[in-house]
Amino acid sequence: MTVHFIGAGPGAADLITLRGRDLIAACPVCLYAGSLVPEALLSHCPPGARIVNTAPMDLDQIVAEIAAAHRAGHDVARLHSGDLSVWSAMGEQLRRLRDLGIPYDVTPGVPSFAAAAAALGTELTLPGLAQSVVLTRTSGRASSMPAGETLANFAATGATLAIHLSVHVLDRVQAELVPHYGEGCAVAVVFRASWPDQRIIRATLGTLDPAIGAGERTALILVGPALAAEGFDESRLYAGDYDRRFRPVGTAPRFPE
Ligand SMILES: C[S@@+](CC[C@H](N)C(=O)[O-])C[C@H]1O[C@@H](n2cnc3c(N)ncnc32)[C@H](O)[C@@H]1O
Repeated sequence: MTVHFIGAGPGAADLITLRGRDLIAACPVCLYAGSLVPEALLSHCPPGARIVNTAPMDLDQIVAEIAAAHRAGHDVARLHSGDLSVWSAMGEQLRRLRDLGIPYDVTPGVPSFAAAAAALGTELTLPGLAQSVVLTRTSGRASSMPAGETLANFAATGATLAIHLSVHVLDRVQAELVPHYGEGCAVAVVFRASWPDQRIIRATLGTLDPAIGAGERTALILVGPALAAEGFDESRLYAGDYDRRFRPVGTAPRFPE
């Protein structure tokens, strides 16, 4: 018996890995985080599967469900939105399973920041402008931020920021970022990336209306010079004169065939 933690992707039902889909189809029990996991994914469950929405449950109740499946020898598909490596609450579940001696594995998913970048048609790491992406959030009711992880600290690097769980405090985000990026810096807010009702708002830090965050909370704020850039360098990788292992150039290539 194994608990398969599966990244369910950002929303579109076909943005799940083949491995994730096949595991759902093979498990007689499916626990899913109903607030963000698309219900359409549950159509992959086998007939008669026990399907449980964990959104209204606490950790003890979720672990009790898993322990019952373990006793019955039933594999479990455990679905969380996006990828499991960020803000999935997987860590605390894995720790409980280790304590109980219940086996598990993890299948990655498409994270929401990647779906948002795809919706924008934007590369977040453009040569000469930004070579790092910071996945971060602001403090919330349930989670405080470690002291050094302020937006201002990350903004000081000039990297592209992908700010999660924060669309309801856009005014705070703007106030912390303007001193570093300037009012003219590009911002994109992507609501429900990849869902049928996806919505995109582009602005600058100075023109962004904080009121747009008053309703729908499933949104990513992307900030940084890469968001609106046309005047960036081409990468050396594909430059005609760039000598590399897979495309030797010149009379004395660095990596002779
Ligand atoms: C609890 S976190 C889950 C993150 C998820 N594990 C991931 O890989 O993206 C929820 C936050 O992720 C962002 N998010 C998740 N799905 C999204 C989507 N489809 N479009 C935009 N933002 C999304 C929002 O900021 C939301 O408040």
